[in-house]
Amino acid sequence: MMNMSKQKRKMEIVVGFFLLLSATLAHGQRQTGFISIDCGSPSNFNYEDTDTGITYSPDGAFIETGINRNISSEYAYPNNLNLPLPLSDLRTFPQGNKNCYTLKPADGNGTKNLIRAFFLYANYDGENKPPEFDLYLDVNLWYTVKFSNVSEIVTTEIISMALKDTIHICLVDKGLGTPFISALELRPLNNSVYDTEFGIDASLVLFERLDIGKTNGTGRYEDDVYDRIWSPYISTTWDPISTSSAVNNYENGYRVPSEVIKTGAKPQTTDGSLELKWNTTDSSSRFYVYMHFAEVEELGRNQSRKFNVTWNGTPLFGPLSPRYLYATSVSNSRALVGKDHQISIRKTEDSTHPPILNAVEIYMAKQKNESQTYSDDTDAIENVKTTYGIVKNWAGDPCGPKNFSWEGVKCSHNSSLRIISLDLSNNNLTGPIPEFLEDLKSLKLLSLKGNQLSGVVPNALLERSEDGSLLLSVDSRNLCNSGSCKKKKNIVTPIVASLASAFVLLIVLIIIWKQTRKKKSEEVILGQQGRHVSIKKSQYSYAEVVEITENFQTEIGKGGFGVVYHGYMKDGTQVAIKRLSPSSSQGPREFQTEVELLMRIHHRNLASFVGYCDDGNKLALIYEYMPNGNLKQYLSDKSSQLSWEMRLRIALDAAQGLEYLHHGCKPPVVHRDVKTSNILLGENLDAKIADFGLSKVFANDNDTHVETTVMGTAGYLDPEYYSSQKLTEKSDVYSFGVVLLELITGQPAIIKTDETVHVIQWVSSELEQGDIKSIVDQRLQENFDVNSVCKTLEVAMACTTSHSQQRATMSYVLAELKQCLEIELSKDIERAPIRQAHNFHFHSYSSTLELSSIYTDSVNMDSVTTPLAR
Ligand SMILES: *[C@@H]1O[C@H](CO)[C@@H](O)[C@H](O)[C@H]1NC(C)=O
Ligand SMILES: *[C@@H]1O[C@H](CO)[C@@H](O)[C@H](O)[C@H]1NC(C)=O
Ligand SMILES: *[C@@H]1O[C@H](CO)[C@@H](O)[C@H](O)[C@H]1NC(C)=O
Ligand SMILES: *[C@@H]1O[C@H](CO)[C@@H](O)[C@H](O)[C@H]1NC(C)=O
Ligand SMILES: *[C@@H]1O[C@H](CO)[C@@H](O)[C@H](O)[C@H]1NC(C)=O
Ligand SMILES: *[C@@H]1O[C@H](CO)[C@@H](O)[C@H](O)[C@H]1NC(C)=O
Ligand SMILES: *[C@@H]1O[C@H](CO)[C@@H](O)[C@H](O)[C@H]1NC(C)=O
Ligand SMILES: *[C@@H]1O[C@H](CO)[C@@H](O)[C@H](O)[C@H]1NC(C)=O
Ligand SMILES: *[C@@H]1O[C@H](CO)[C@@H](O)[C@H](O)[C@H]1NC(C)=O
Ligand SMILES: *[C@@H]1O[C@H](CO)[C@@H](O)[C@H](O)[C@H]1NC(C)=O
Ligand SMILES: *[C@@H]1O[C@H](CO)[C@@H](O)[C@H](O)[C@H]1NC(C)=O
Repeated sequence: MMNMSKQKRKMEIVVGFFLLLSATLAHGQRQTGFISIDCGSPSNFNYEDTDTGITYSPDGAFIETGINRNISSEYAYPNNLNLPLPLSDLRTFPQGNKNCYTLKPADGNGTKNLIRAFFLYANYDGENKPPEFDLYLDVNLWYTVKFSNVSEIVTTEIISMALKDTIHICLVDKGLGTPFISALELRPLNNSVYDTEFGIDASLVLFERLDIGKTNGTGRYEDDVYDRIWSPYISTTWDPISTSSAVNNYENGYRVPSEVIKTGAKPQTTDGSLELKWNTTDSSSRFYVYMHFAEVEELGRNQSRKFNVTWNGTPLFGPLSPRYLYATSVSNSRALVGKDHQISIRKTEDSTHPPILNAVEIYMAKQKNESQTYSDDTDAIENVKTTYGIVKNWAGDPCGPKNFSWEGVKCSHNSSLRIISLDLSNNNLTGPIPEFLEDLKSLKLLSLKGNQLSGVVPNALLERSEDGSLLLSVDSRNLCNSGSCKKKKNIVTPIVASLASAFVLLIVLIIIWKQTRKKKSEEVILGQQGRHVSIKKSQYSYAEVVEITENFQTEIGKGGFGVVYHGYMKDGTQVAIKRLSPSSSQGPREFQTEVELLMRIHHRNLASFVGYCDDGNKLALIYEYMPNGNLKQYLSDKSSQLSWEMRLRIALDAAQGLEYLHHGCKPPVVHRDVKTSNILLGENLDAKIADFGLSKVFANDNDTHVETTVMGTAGYLDPEYYSSQKLTEKSDVYSFGVVLLELITGQPAIIKTDETVHVIQWVSSELEQGDIKSIVDQRLQENFDVNSVCKTLEVAMACTTSHSQQRATMSYVLAELKQCLEIELSKDIERAPIRQAHNFHFHSYSSTLELSSIYTDSVNMDSVTTPLAR
């Protein structure tokens, strides 16, 4: 037997609709301002649901994305005769992580609306697995949609003031199944009702709405002009009470239907009370209770019904004495906050009758605290959308909710949400490049390449690209015609200093701009002064990284950031690939810092950078491979024979790298994590500094310090920086001093013997006993020039004084170390006996040791880079 399909059922209704034309028209007109969407129904299929009298529209006018589906027939009509018609089909969103309906309330901005969404999974996809996803009202979380079984109908309602002419209802994919929606409704309310102390800054999500005293049948439109859905409710300990007369609800903005308020309940004894109890898991939940009363019994002259309402024992309202056949509504003015709630309605002493309750609504307030995109940016991008007829999933707020910005749009999430990157490449766009792109004032990257755009880049945009504030990527044909390029070429480009900053900008943008790798041939990037900068390939896909590392076969190191693997590039070059661990919370920021820096700075003694991978959530950095590992490993290997000369050369190399960061880079860079494990050794034990994940770039050339969260590695962390949080380049000098001490002594920064002691502490106490020989690494076996070692020790002490102002600079350190090497190289013929070192002194640098708890608390942390909470 054939099931009667929804379509057929709708057809019948449509036939009925024509027969009842006049009546239905009048009916429809009363649904003033209603928006009723039967999500997933065939296009052009408007129909009236005979159960409710509500006219539903298909969703085409409200959303551009998604796929229509029908629920599985076993849950559909006629197998399920009670199924509300709009729920027999649905719209599902397998593509994009945010899909939004755009609703336009009839009276637009400033109107209060009730919005309701229905979800019935009913195994529409044959997977028998209902999804879980989030529902947003604009950028604020409204509800998390979950199902207890495949046939459950989930309904959620929210009351909210529109703050614009449009409202966006967005379904956000949480990775727990494909979002879908069955029906969506908007009902305008009277602005004077459902107020909270938060005004327009909060929405109310329905918790419960009860028609007390009614035993059967759900009420809604058209009894209720606002189409609220009232569930019948009566407690077994209550007595129903009702009237057959109509109750006047016109003078009350809540307009609780007479049908609803005609019925009520009273306690079974006159002295009894009506108790409403509920609870939630979240103790910060804020509840609003709207109680509706009407007297339904005609009371005699000497009779009265008077009652008080309390919440968890504290008075809420009262005494109340509802008027006969008139609706009265009350609500709490301050939110009821907490997990457990109990409302008691009890008669006052002078009342002859027990209390009554006719209807009640309980809502939870949700603060609208998430920011929306800066409105000028929203307007400009909406303009882009309409002008180009962009068919991407561009709906809802362009930047929010956080992490769910429009495809190709990147935003800054600082004080205000601004669009900083717009990638319109390869979109088949036609027509001229419009001036209004200029209205996106915070835009730093605009990519228009791979389109059929005509004409040249408007001047306003060109100017911004020339002053370095915008990186523009366009097809070459849009750059020049009519000699505009020639004119540009006349501009002399002598500004060398700003070149670096343009390059920084370029690099920053490369990072946020993920999809630039295709079609490189036609791409032109217009940098500062209209110069054409060509970028060498440095971004790799995850697939390429898998290939390079032969599926992460050889692990060569591990850090706070993730694991380091060995790999081969296509040309056979060996590389080290640092793969960002997904669990590393600091990861993405460090990753970005490091890519920015590595692409900007190049020095013989800084780890050289091959490229990076930023593919979805897969992040990796590719460096030149350093076959001798890091200095820490090398030093801790008891069998390694590292001569004093080699140690000095390593120290010199590292010092050169640091000196370049501090004095060669403009603005200067502080590495913040100088330590032996970040000094890598090449084939000939040439040293390079690596791991710029924590590095900090000063904002200006003249800045002397930046205030930051203290980051670094225990044992190397400058105590002054730790206590003041003011980061200067002297913090690196301190850490470098510790490295020098490790080179001299062969001991780690934190020495763990019977008691844990810092290498500075240890060296100082040994020196107090006047025994320099005991300090020097035993593996050196006196094969060194003692003056060279002494001078190096002085340098180390000059680096590690507790007051940063007294500390040496890297330039000084570099010059001194060169002399140390010279002394060592000219050690010859007669080596001074070690005992001579007695007259060694600390220069003018006093090294008072301020050993705070960081040295001893962090015993197990010396190989892990950790933010140290104070
Ligand atoms: C849903 O069922 C109706 C009637 O059988 C049919 O016309 C419609 O095309 C179906 N919709 C989808 C998306 O399969
Ligand atoms: C599905 O879950 C709802 C809500 O928990 C419940 O009322 C209903 O009885 C359940 N249906 C089945 C078939 O389990
Ligand atoms: C909406 O109306 C409020 C005042 O009612 C006004 O401040 C706000 O600017 C309006 N917003 C828009 C987008 O029109
Ligand atoms: C609901 O109950 C009322 C009496 O309380 C009765 O008159 C009415 O017929 C019932 N409706 C249905 C649909 O059962
Ligand atoms: C809203 O309700 C108030 C009473 O609370 C009433 O005076 C006003 O006319 C109502 N507005 C509309 C548009 O119905
Ligand atoms: C609410 O209270 C009942 C009974 O005390 C308890 O079983 C239930 O777990 C509570 N629910 C929540 C959400 O706290
Ligand atoms: C109320 O008044 C009526 C008649 O006036 C009387 O019969 C009745 O006892 C009175 N009831 C009470 C509670 O006083
Ligand atoms: C009812 O409330 C009024 C006003 O808050 C108070 O004076 C009275 O004592 C209360 N009565 C009872 C029985 O709680
Ligand atoms: C908004 O408020 C909710 C709780 O009401 C909170 O969980 C969330 O973190 C807040 N968001 C912002 C951006 O303040
Ligand atoms: C946004 O993404 C980041 C990193 O993926 C995550 O830590 C954060 O929780 C996300 N925020 C939201 C609101 O989903
Ligand atoms: C652009 O147009 C070509 C040819 O008409 C088509 O194959 C391609 O899918 C289009 N691309 C987009 C993104 O619309």
